[in-house]
Amino acid sequence: MNVELLEPDRERLWSELHDLARLSEADSAGWTRRVFSEPYRAARDWVRGRMRDAGLAVTTDPAGNIVGRLPGRHGGPPLVTGSHTDTVEGGGRFDGVVGVLGAIEVVRRLRETGTQLDHDLLVVDFLGEEVNPYSGSCLGSQAATGVLTADTLDRTGVDGKRLGDVATAFGLDPDGLLAPTWAMQRLHGYLELHIEQGPTLEQRGLDIGVVTAIVGIERFLATFIGRADHAGTRRMGDRRDALVAAAKAVLTVEREGCAGPDSAVATCGALRIEPGAENVVPGRALLAAEFRSEDQTWLSGVRRRVVDEIARHSAENGVELLVDWSADNPVVPTNPSVQNLAAAAADELGASWLAMPSGAGHDAAHLAARCPAGMIFVPSRDGRSHCPDEWTDAAQIATGVHLLAASLVRMDQQATVDTEFAGPR
Ligand code: GLV
Ligand code: MN
Ligand code: MN
Repeated sequence: MNVELLEPDRERLWSELHDLARLSEADSAGWTRRVFSEPYRAARDWVRGRMRDAGLAVTTDPAGNIVGRLPGRHGGPPLVTGSHTDTVEGGGRFDGVVGVLGAIEVVRRLRETGTQLDHDLLVVDFLGEEVNPYSGSCLGSQAATGVLTADTLDRTGVDGKRLGDVATAFGLDPDGLLAPTWAMQRLHGYLELHIEQGPTLEQRGLDIGVVTAIVGIERFLATFIGRADHAGTRRMGDRRDALVAAAKAVLTVEREGCAGPDSAVATCGALRIEPGAENVVPGRALLAAEFRSEDQTWLSGVRRRVVDEIARHSAENGVELLVDWSADNPVVPTNPSVQNLAAAAADELGASWLAMPSGAGHDAAHLAARCPAGMIFVPSRDGRSHCPDEWTDAAQIATGVHLLAASLVRMDQQATVDTEFAGPR
């Protein structure tokens, strides 16, 4: 087929992107729509409406993922695309949203041009992709692919609440989250469009990133238990200051990231201090941290190296330490066939592209365990993301959505059996 015809309606897509952006938490910076918040609920109702308008049959699976189905000529294992519509606190308008609204626009263009795929096409808005206060991300894709455990639902977060309880209060059934709905089903393939969230494409003046791998992520939630005391009367040598121990841990995490391979990053992103007043020695501190890399060997050694040092420093301060680790995903290579067909489709559309890894985590990392999976990136201005300044031009998004359509058409027709990425041609 002539994939030129599948070019998206740029204005329609751009205006929807801004309609969705309005459904944000009023008291937060930027565009904030955290998982389990009321604006998130409203946004998901709105997404269901856009899916229905596009002609999709919409359901919500037991894991809370919104799934829109476009029937194909022959059915069989479905082809899947999508992303997420939750954001970080103080986030932007494009992370995740481009992949969901872009996929809905692809469906509209398929229908408007009378193009029917052989396979059913599923457009998915995955539940809670961003990291939540319980130190986990990709809730919906992990749940659906059967890797979410009861331990995860039992985790108490920096907000002092239990994940399972918060999910129940949002209307989800914890048993549904633990049922590997999609793990039982064969999928033809998965392709996700996303913003790059880093500077590489812009710096090189390129249209598209063909993602080769998604970084592995290890996280911990550490509880430092010291002793609350009067800050005026308790001598410096006689304190059990939980925050001082946590502060030393922050520096340990930074040192570990700096000493790692090029792709290694390490971040302490959330800290809660109790009771939280200048005139009380902190009795308790909760610290959330993460480590990422394309180097699985480095990542696999992180837990041992970091915990030894943090435990030593905590003991020096008389502080008890509890560390709860979780692995979001190991380093995940994307499927070579999917890379090849996305690159070939980019060539066909005249879009310049680069094969590149993703430093951000994505639902695609979990889908990759179930089926041939890949991703395509569009540029991010100044490489900014997870902040209100996140930006991608309408024309750049349109190129990505056009490529998503052209690649899905190829994926529909092709067996995904290549064992190697062909590389630039
Ligand atoms: C999601 O954006 C992540 O990389 O954590
Ligand atoms: Mn994202
Ligand atoms: Mn994100």
